[in-house]
Amino acid sequence: MQPAIEALPDKSALIERARALVVEKVQAAIAQRGRCTLALAGGSTPKPLYEALAQADLPNDQLYLFWGDERYVPADHPDSNAKMVRESWLERVDIPTENVFSVPTEAPSPAEAAHQYEQTLQQFFQTDGLPQFDVILLGMGDDGHTASLFPQTPVLQIQDRWVAVGEKANQPRITLTAPLINQARNVIFLVSGANKQTALSQVFSPHADALTYPARLIRPAGNLYWLLDAAAAAGLPAQIDFEGTGE
Ligand code: 6PG
Repeated sequence: MQPAIEALPDKSALIERARALVVEKVQAAIAQRGRCTLALAGGSTPKPLYEALAQADLPNDQLYLFWGDERYVPADHPDSNAKMVRESWLERVDIPTENVFSVPTEAPSPAEAAHQYEQTLQQFFQTDGLPQFDVILLGMGDDGHTASLFPQTPVLQIQDRWVAVGEKANQPRITLTAPLINQARNVIFLVSGANKQTALSQVFSPHADALTYPARLIRPAGNLYWLLDAAAAAGLPAQIDFEGTGE
């Protein structure tokens, strides 16, 4: 499916658009299936979105939260994505704790944390094949990575796992795999800042290699939204070819 690419004037407009879109998708999922499964992005861009969602009137008891990736650090570590989401959103709302599935970074190794998280997902979704998240939020690094799918790393080749170890220079991560992300009903990228221009120009160019710019691997069967601010969107090529090789 072709992506919906939206360039918003600035970061606050980007966050407001993301808030409205996420609320719309959450409400639609709950109306259709009685629940919404939402996987969250880490990093800095989505923090104000989570603060805005804390003010939104969401049916929190029908909302189930997961993480698209996590750093292999303790839950109270400053780099923890779970800590960032707790402080910006969860501590301000009454979502049941049993609806929040953070990555078990207390596990003895990144590989064990990934294995345990995959088991958590399998237990929750109870499906043989890859499960469909209703919404997956993603960011993109200035190197074109997304979640913890970093350029030229082994995790990019994994097809038979739901969760695996991602590698950033000597900072192990746990990440959903591209095949799992691509099952989602809705994938929403949030990309802000001029420092993302180069990567965006490559992600949307006809010739770039997806192993070098892993965000190109994300081509879900469902809806794909790229929400950009003007600073990041300035990197978009005149001709956008998203049907290029994603392998
Ligand atoms: C993480 C994220 C990562 C992030 C990008 C963009 O754990 O860091 O999942 O993929 O989305 O690095 O980060 P910024 O939003 O901080 O630019």
